[in-house]
Amino acid sequence: MKTLQFRNGDKMPAFGLGTWKSQPGEVYAAVKEAIKTGYRHIDCAPIYGNEKEVGDALVECFDEGIVKREDLWITSKLWNDAHGTEDVEPALKKTLADLQVEYLDLFLIHWPVALKKGVSMAEKASDFFSLNEIPLSVTWRAMEAVQEKGLTTHIGVSNFSIDKLKSLSVECKIKPEMNQIEMHPYLQQQEMVDFCKEEGILLTAYSPLGSKDRPALLKADDEPLLLEDPTITRIAQDNGITPAQVLIAWSLSRNIAVIPKSVSPDRIRQNYKAAAIELGPQEMEEIAELDRGLRYVTGNFWVVDEGPYTLENLWD
Ligand code: A2P
Repeated sequence: MKTLQFRNGDKMPAFGLGTWKSQPGEVYAAVKEAIKTGYRHIDCAPIYGNEKEVGDALVECFDEGIVKREDLWITSKLWNDAHGTEDVEPALKKTLADLQVEYLDLFLIHWPVALKKGVSMAEKASDFFSLNEIPLSVTWRAMEAVQEKGLTTHIGVSNFSIDKLKSLSVECKIKPEMNQIEMHPYLQQQEMVDFCKEEGILLTAYSPLGSKDRPALLKADDEPLLLEDPTITRIAQDNGITPAQVLIAWSLSRNIAVIPKSVSPDRIRQNYKAAAIELGPQEMEEIAELDRGLRYVTGNFWVVDEGPYTLENLWD
């Protein structure tokens, strides 16, 4: 299984299970199935509303001897309402309690967006703090502190632009080690890939299959379906594999971690097999042509009347 190496030599399995949109009642079986299949990396977040159930599956896998904690890579994220200095450690401890583990392997700032305490999704301007009120560097220092305490082995960010990564690196002791962002053939983010390679920042691709199960509220009516793209489906047919497997293999061959979500046992197994598939140079070139800068997760849910965030200042 391909791994990505952190600065201290730690290795993260590049292929993992996504749990965004995995419903309570489904995610327990999905995590168990995945670990039994051989997955060694699970991507979580408190906003997904299912960490307790993910934790129940983890505990069972440990108890049944299917995997040891130290052989599993567990990532979770800091929700936007806990960006204040005093709020980061309690938020992480709640996640640890729900996941029923002693430490995380990786803890990420979920969004460069700060919300008032207790707000999960914002509706009005007064739900937000601006980044002047709680600068990202302040949140990052609290991330460094929980890492020093051993509550998480690595720290990083998610949904950060190159500009935001640059300013954090200047202001802080420890550079972020990971940026988790949306990435797939329609949103290849080559500038980000080049920048992160130079800076020694690793990348994880979320929504690698196009997240077609996103809530309707976050969807455009006419959005193109990545899994039905003619080039992707043809490459799949030529190789006797599925479109999802093409998308997963494409990400891994760019040395980018990938966390497809599934709650179906068949697809969990199918996606795992993709980690062993190599695409040829010609196929990689054809897929490179598909880039169209299309975000499925636009971030428009952070933009409200007179609020501090705009799509321009979110993505810079
Ligand atoms: P399901 O959970 O029923 O398998 P993303 O990771 O980009 O957010 O995409 C997740 C969506 O893709 C879910 O709707 C998931 O459905 C579906 N999915 C996961 N694996 C596959 C696959 N191998 N083939 C087709 N759809 C898949």
